[in-house]
Amino acid sequence: MKRVKRRSDLALFGGSPAFDPAIHVGRPNIGDRQAFDRLVREALDRRWLTNDGPLVRELERRIGEQLGVEHCVAVCNGTIGLEILFHALGLAGEVLVPSYTFIATAHALLRCGIKPIFVDIDPATHNIDPKAARARASSRTSGIVAVHLWGRPVPVRELQDLAGELGVPLVFDAAHAFGCTFEGRSIGNFGAAEVLSFHATKFFNTLEGGAVVTNDAALARELRLLRNFGFSGYDNTMSLGTNGKMNEVCAAMGLVNLDALPAFIGRNRQIHQQYVEAFAQIPGVNVLRYDENERNNYQYVVVELDERFPVGRDRVVEALHAEGILARKYFWPGCHRMMPYREIYPGEGAHLPVTEAVSERVLVLPTGTSLPDGAVGLQADIFRVLSE
Ligand SMILES: Cc1ncc(COP(=O)(O)O)c(C=O)c1O
Repeated sequence: MKRVKRRSDLALFGGSPAFDPAIHVGRPNIGDRQAFDRLVREALDRRWLTNDGPLVRELERRIGEQLGVEHCVAVCNGTIGLEILFHALGLAGEVLVPSYTFIATAHALLRCGIKPIFVDIDPATHNIDPKAARARASSRTSGIVAVHLWGRPVPVRELQDLAGELGVPLVFDAAHAFGCTFEGRSIGNFGAAEVLSFHATKFFNTLEGGAVVTNDAALARELRLLRNFGFSGYDNTMSLGTNGKMNEVCAAMGLVNLDALPAFIGRNRQIHQQYVEAFAQIPGVNVLRYDENERNNYQYVVVELDERFPVGRDRVVEALHAEGILARKYFWPGCHRMMPYREIYPGEGAHLPVTEAVSERVLVLPTGTSLPDGAVGLQADIFRVLSE
């Protein structure tokens, strides 16, 4: 593995970033390439490239088995997974959702004609705050979409209670949470359904891809129709579906990456621990911890700066970029302050003080199987220089 060192003190204070491609947030993990080549060759030989092919079915079977979930419906990406799920559940009117999430969560709602009602987060976990959700619920609420941010489970029980009281479905955007557990049970088993993303930047990827997982057979049947234009048979559509199908090459990538999952998680865990140790002596730099009583994928190295750190988050990100390190300001500034939400729903910020504060002090640092040795130490050096 390549070792890295800091380029120069000067680079910290300016210059145009030329990113080291190896030190990127979201750099993909890739399993056994020969196995991937073989699976792709077989798919090409079969001339069965998409439309519920054998590799997609195998991937669905294995993911279902791994999570202990009855139905896994593979899709072309997580965003489409969210959209077909909202459609299948008949969500309409308003839906409670955190603003502190990737924009796809909100976009999927709005694209289904649903108004997202943005809910504030718990400052300790960055996850949706059930009390804030309750405060924003109304007779127009048709559902709750919670996000297991950073792969750390939301307070499932409290949200279940609220959804029960409102008589609406609870679903989870579990884009970050493949391989994670809540109370020892795999994420994927909670609410009406959970949506996974297998985008290239996720620790487990299918190039592009995702899945909706559920223990509800009728819902799974409807989702299978919806991901294929609503087709039942060759000439007959049953509902307003879309093209949400996963193709065979993506499934091949998923199958080889599934074999490598323990190695991916092991490396992420090791790197996360390195960050925790390297930053322990730098006041004001807090690396978010995972609950070691649960299974985690350790994909997000989330750093929250507090008032003891003398330099603002944006300046830190600039300095890292100047050193060629692609850190990210996830999920700044919060969906409600992005377009089109800030224009069509102005004033939402009044409900979201924690979201706004947290989004100004968080940055996410690179991890993954291709992170070079020395990359963590290099970043700790940069933080140390900035803190002096
Ligand atoms: C929280 C969250 N939700 C949804 C998505 C959308 O997933 P995809 O990129 O597979 O469409 C992502 C990531 O991309 C995400 O981080």
